[in-house]
Amino acid sequence: MAKTPAADAPRSSLDPEDWAGLRADGHRMLDEILDYIEGIRERPVWRPLPDEVRARFRSDLPRKPQALADVHGEFMRDVLPYATGNVHPGFMGWVHGGGNPAGVLAEMLAAGLNANLGGRDHAPIEVERQIVAWMRTLFGFPETATGLFVTGTSMANLIGVLVARTAALGSGMRRKGVRAAEKRLTAYTSAAAHGCIAQAMDISGLGIEALRVIPTGDDHRIDIDALTAAIADDRAKGFSPFLVVGTAGTVDIGAIDDLAGLADVAEREKLWFHVDGAFGALAILAPEVAPRLAGIQRPDSLAFDFHKWGQVPYDAGFVMVRDGRMHRSAFASPAAYLRRETRGLAAGSPWPCDFGPDLSRGFRALKTWFTLKVHGTERIGRAISRSCALAQYLKSRIEAAPELELLAPVQLNIVCFGYRSPDANRLNAEIVIALQESGIAAPSATTIGGRVVIRAAIVNHRTEERDIDALIAATLEMGAARQKSAAA
Ligand SMILES: Cc1ncc(COP(=O)(O)O)c(C=O)c1O
Repeated sequence: MAKTPAADAPRSSLDPEDWAGLRADGHRMLDEILDYIEGIRERPVWRPLPDEVRARFRSDLPRKPQALADVHGEFMRDVLPYATGNVHPGFMGWVHGGGNPAGVLAEMLAAGLNANLGGRDHAPIEVERQIVAWMRTLFGFPETATGLFVTGTSMANLIGVLVARTAALGSGMRRKGVRAAEKRLTAYTSAAAHGCIAQAMDISGLGIEALRVIPTGDDHRIDIDALTAAIADDRAKGFSPFLVVGTAGTVDIGAIDDLAGLADVAEREKLWFHVDGAFGALAILAPEVAPRLAGIQRPDSLAFDFHKWGQVPYDAGFVMVRDGRMHRSAFASPAAYLRRETRGLAAGSPWPCDFGPDLSRGFRALKTWFTLKVHGTERIGRAISRSCALAQYLKSRIEAAPELELLAPVQLNIVCFGYRSPDANRLNAEIVIALQESGIAAPSATTIGGRVVIRAAIVNHRTEERDIDALIAATLEMGAARQKSAAA
């Protein structure tokens, strides 16, 4: 007979012996992270990790217990001060949301419930379904549309491409693989599309070369005539065009493709229409921007992130598919151990695992549900409008400074500019690094038309005019100092 452990055996339960002590530690941890957010302006936006701190992350696997308060002390010393910085209003790099305290608290509750949203019949799944229903209404999708939380838009776009592939080749392709398909599928997107679209073509087995990269006009939007010509050319050569991907908010400058025009092309050519709205889609909440998203109601699938302009803490990507049956047929896989019932915990089919590759799934929906309910979509929309107004303010500051030049049209919330110099590429790349290291502001660098530019993407709801002023002042100072030392 199996023996039960002796009373003095080492503990195997992971719950505390001293719940009161854990509560005290927990309350302090909560206070300190809220202090961090409340006092974020007093901190540098970002600071490099000192070598000794980095070295502490090379320690051995901990085999023995350590007090929670000590581990939290390590977090406060080694992790918190060296985070990405996107909670800070001076963070303008890439496209990062600022998060929000209600989302932080919801994330804690979600961890407490430890719910697995792959499937089964429980309230957390109803929270996710509630958000799917809200998004259907927001984007004018039909009742039959399905939706799913994923890590981010890279994964959401991949799901869009996989559903489009199954729609084009039939679900039998899932057994035989794309190699067996007679059709040579081709997809279309613009030169300004995010790299994850090409990556999705790669992962889907269709190949990056099957993605036709269509040029953009001066406004960085896809050239629809060139798209139509490319489709005709491919058809003439025996290819089977199957997918067109539009972008609502390009990662380089925030351009919004002519989504209605793309929807017309897709309809006429019988292509799957997918929209990558990573950050731009939620601009539908901003009355000043929403009209420019005309046509966003028409795609077959739509990908976007709540963790960008939705300000939900990372990660919270989302994909919605107009034809829910098609979505399901791209992923659902029967398995005896996932047997469905009409009653009991195994009820509630279809389950989220039928709509994507993940079986175990966390409760991303809760922090999104809290964020949407606590702030309301009108306030989130106001923060989006304000980001765009701040981008215009930054543009006006650049235009007023003879040392600076604007290097792309400002269409949404992204401003690309540079310090004028005969050696501008090197200088602007250096200025970006120096700005980040100064802790004053954190833009990122990109290349537009062969020129290295300073790129400020204003996403954080905490950003104000004074943060833009600080960015301009520091850029001018750093640019002048570097020009002077280069001349010397
Ligand atoms: C237009 C666009 N698409 C896709 C992505 C990828 O999104 P994620 O980082 O959430 O995977 C981004 C990220 O900034 C983006 O701007």
